Amino acid sequence: MQITADQLRNLYLDFFKSKGHTVISGASLIPENDPTVLFTTAGMHPLVPYLMGKMPHPAGTRLTDVQKCVRTGDIDEVGDSAHLTFFEMLGNWSLNDYFKKEAISWSFEFLTTKLGFSPSQLSVTVFRGEGKPGEEGYIPADEEAAAIWKSLGIPDERIYRLPREDNWWGPAGETGPCGPDTEMFIDTGKPACGPDCRPGCHCGKFIEIWNDVFMQFNKTAEGKFVPLGRHNVDTGMGVERTICMMNGCATVYDTDVFAPIMARIKELSGKASFETPEDVRSSRVVADHMRTATFILGDQKGGVTPGNVGANYVLRRLIRSAVRHARRLGIAPGFTEKMAATIIDEYKHVYPELEQNRERVFQELVAEENRFGKTLDEGKREFDKTVAGIRRKNEFMGAKDPSYIPDTRISGKQAFRLYDTYGYPLEMTQELAREAGFSVDVEGYNECFKAHQELSRANVGSAKSGLAEHSEETTALHTATHLLHKALKIVLGDHCNQKGSNITAERLRLDFTHGEKMTPEQIKQVEDLVNEQIKADLPVYRDMMTLDEARAAGATALFSSKYTDEKLSVYTIGRTRDDFFSKEVCTGPHVEHTGVLGHFRIKKEESSSAGVRRIKAVLEK
Ligand code: ALA
Repeated sequence: MQITADQLRNLYLDFFKSKGHTVISGASLIPENDPTVLFTTAGMHPLVPYLMGKMPHPAGTRLTDVQKCVRTGDIDEVGDSAHLTFFEMLGNWSLNDYFKKEAISWSFEFLTTKLGFSPSQLSVTVFRGEGKPGEEGYIPADEEAAAIWKSLGIPDERIYRLPREDNWWGPAGETGPCGPDTEMFIDTGKPACGPDCRPGCHCGKFIEIWNDVFMQFNKTAEGKFVPLGRHNVDTGMGVERTICMMNGCATVYDTDVFAPIMARIKELSGKASFETPEDVRSSRVVADHMRTATFILGDQKGGVTPGNVGANYVLRRLIRSAVRHARRLGIAPGFTEKMAATIIDEYKHVYPELEQNRERVFQELVAEENRFGKTLDEGKREFDKTVAGIRRKNEFMGAKDPSYIPDTRISGKQAFRLYDTYGYPLEMTQELAREAGFSVDVEGYNECFKAHQELSRANVGSAKSGLAEHSEETTALHTATHLLHKALKIVLGDHCNQKGSNITAERLRLDFTHGEKMTPEQIKQVEDLVNEQIKADLPVYRDMMTLDEARAAGATALFSSKYTDEKLSVYTIGRTRDDFFSKEVCTGPHVEHTGVLGHFRIKKEESSSAGVRRIKAVLEK
């Protein structure tokens, strides 16, 4: 079925109106009372006090809306076929009113009767529960949701029961309402990528279309999940992704919402179409980033202008990156205002605040584009000189010594100078470096950064660790973290140093220094390497030694400065203490044999902060 964004919004809101919902206006992109998040990331965010039961919502207990959202966690991925930093989310809510039966039945009804999907295209996931009855923290499997799906005609083989990692949503920040969810996927009909292929797999066979969250819990500051004593429903459907799928578009940039934006970019660049992959990517970055920047600047609450900290920095980065990519495409200066005009005209009937703030949007964009434009060319010349110099050095050395390994790294000092003198965000230098086949010494950059004690916020290297918890699950995940750390060093290079780790009973999270997104192939190589060590059932040895002894034995010591002459425990995972896969200084605890770990799987690889990637991974039994 062919559908426009306007039609989808109207169909959705009308449908839920017919089910007794009040259509409320979406909230500001800038969160009202929450300093822990920079932007509104989901439709539920502005409704948190009502979901918690702190006060009744003036519009009643059944609400529906379309909410502007900004998520920048995957900003490095923008330019591929699907990632966006701004998107619209359709949602419907029950504030302690209806629950699973109505929510699921209406989702099914909307998908099959209004959007025209056949029930046979639908696969769903439900929470498989955790813990044992009687134990603290026990949460039963959501068989109720599964039974409702079955009663609607979805056969059991298309109802997937998955763990918390897949089927639990929230809280949006560190604390707040959350709960098990049931997610709906459209099977594209592509062949499965392997025996493990299922909804949630990234191969593209299954595309998530909607998420119904049953928000019955509150996550406390202590990390406990406490029943809210309320049965809320929170759902979310992404507008761009849904119309993309329904219209059979190859990418979100081919949908009607991007048509005028992409047309304007072509017109401004004087090109009828973009042919090379680099040009295609640049055009998408300009489209995405200009749309997001226009919405942030045109927001009803306002107050975010390009700057060096927090949300202001995100906005600056979006605009500057758009400017740079526009230049690549041959677009003349002064384009940001023209792009914003197109975007405002396209969206003002849905978001009148854009029109109201038109002048402010233009002023801020022009000012930032001018500020940046002045130094951009000089900075680029300096960057090019640096690269040319390194290449000449490589040529010279290579001619003298055939075994010379060419240098392909921009020094931290140089990257910092580009930042400090020319206003190049580190990510932009990294992008330029990538395009030239170079990398950037991010650690060196961070050191310079610290030395200048400026913009400390952009230099996030979170080493926050979880509360010491020694359950079987967390112990296994500790050992898996060592295997992962080593596998990353093997596959990506020795520069992958652990920056932070956080382990819960469900998953591990590892932050590590690496300048770019991992490819699916690299992710698979890392998974395979870890799983091979598990299959080999390697023993885990623990020895006590000083830091110097540990280093001499080949151990990785992460936070070396904080250790003194005291004896440290060193964990070795290997056939013997000398023939090992991994050796790390660590306080533990760890399993005794890797064979007990189960199957290792990477769930997510994303940007954490400048030059730091984040992996979330699980062990499946
Ligand atoms: N809050 C839920 C989500 O963002 C619906 O997926």
